[in-house]
Amino acid sequence: MTAHVFLNGEWLPAEAARVSVMDRGFLFGDGVYEVIPVYSRRPFRLEQHLQRLQHSLDGIQLANPHGIKEWIGFVTKLAGEAEWEDQSIYIQVTRGPMAVRNHAFPKVVRPTSVIFAEPMTTPPASQREQGIAAVSAVDIRWLRCDLKTTSLLANCLLRQMAVAAGCVETVLFRDGFLTEGSASSIFVVKDGVLLAPIKNHLMLPGITYDVILELAASHGLPHQVRDITEAETRSADELWMCSSTKEVLPIVTLDGKRVGADGTAGPVFAQMYAWYQEFKATVMRAE
Ligand code: PDD
Repeated sequence: MTAHVFLNGEWLPAEAARVSVMDRGFLFGDGVYEVIPVYSRRPFRLEQHLQRLQHSLDGIQLANPHGIKEWIGFVTKLAGEAEWEDQSIYIQVTRGPMAVRNHAFPKVVRPTSVIFAEPMTTPPASQREQGIAAVSAVDIRWLRCDLKTTSLLANCLLRQMAVAAGCVETVLFRDGFLTEGSASSIFVVKDGVLLAPIKNHLMLPGITYDVILELAASHGLPHQVRDITEAETRSADELWMCSSTKEVLPIVTLDGKRVGADGTAGPVFAQMYAWYQEFKATVMRAE
C-alpha cells in the first residue's frame, strides 16, 4: 500500500491516517488550508500558496508547525510520488486536539497538519468553449474572507445553490458589490477593460487571480482593480470565474440571463485562456 497521506510528520496509507474526534478542526472548523495545482508533477506557484498559508495561520493566531523549506520538501515529495501526473495537493493545519470541548484555545496547542494529493481534473473543453451557468446570492460569509479557513459551511451552502439550479458557481454580492464566487475569484469584462474586485477582507486573495492580472499587465490588456457594483456585473460583456482547480472559465448565464450580447464565451476570455496555458507551459519548462 502506498503511504501518501502526510499526517503530523509521518507518511501513512490513507486508511491509517486518523485524527481525533476532539480535533478542533473537526469540532470547530478551527483550521486553515491550501489547494495547490500540480502539472506534470511540478507544483504551480508553490511559494505563493505557502505564503498565503502563513497569512491564514497568522490570521487565526496559530504558529506554523513547519518552516517554508519543510513544506516545500513535503509537497515536492508528494508531487513526485503520487500516482497522477497532474494533481491538486491539499494542505490543512488545524489547532489540533483538546482534552475537553472548549471554544477558547488550549494552553498547549498541538497542531494537526495534513497533506494529500488528488487527481487534478481541469474542466472539460465543453465548459471552456460553451461556458458555464452561474447563479447569484448575497454573500452571507463572515468578515475575514481573506483567510482560507476550513470553516467553509457558508461556501458549501452557497455552492449548493448553484448545483441545485443545475449551475456550476454562485457569484456573491455584498452590499451591492461583487466579492467573489463560492470557491473562485470573479472577473468582469466591460468595453474591452478587465475589471477585478480589490483584494481585501471580503475576498480570498486568489493565486489564479494574481496570475490573470499579471498576464493582463504583461500583454497590455487594459485592466482596473476597483469596486465593482452588482449592476456592472449584471451588465458585463464577459464574466469569468477562476481558481487553482478550474483555471479560468467563462460564465455565460447569470440567474438564467445571458451574459453579454449573445451569452457565449467572449473574445477576451479566449485570449486570456491562451495566455494562461502559454504561461503555464513556460513556467513548467523553466522549473
Ligand atoms: N478554492 N475564492 C474562494 C472562496 C476560493 O475557495 C478559491 C479557491 C478562490 C480561488 O483561489 P485560488 O486561485 O488561489 O485557487 C477564490 C479552492 C480551489 C478550494 O477551496 O478548493
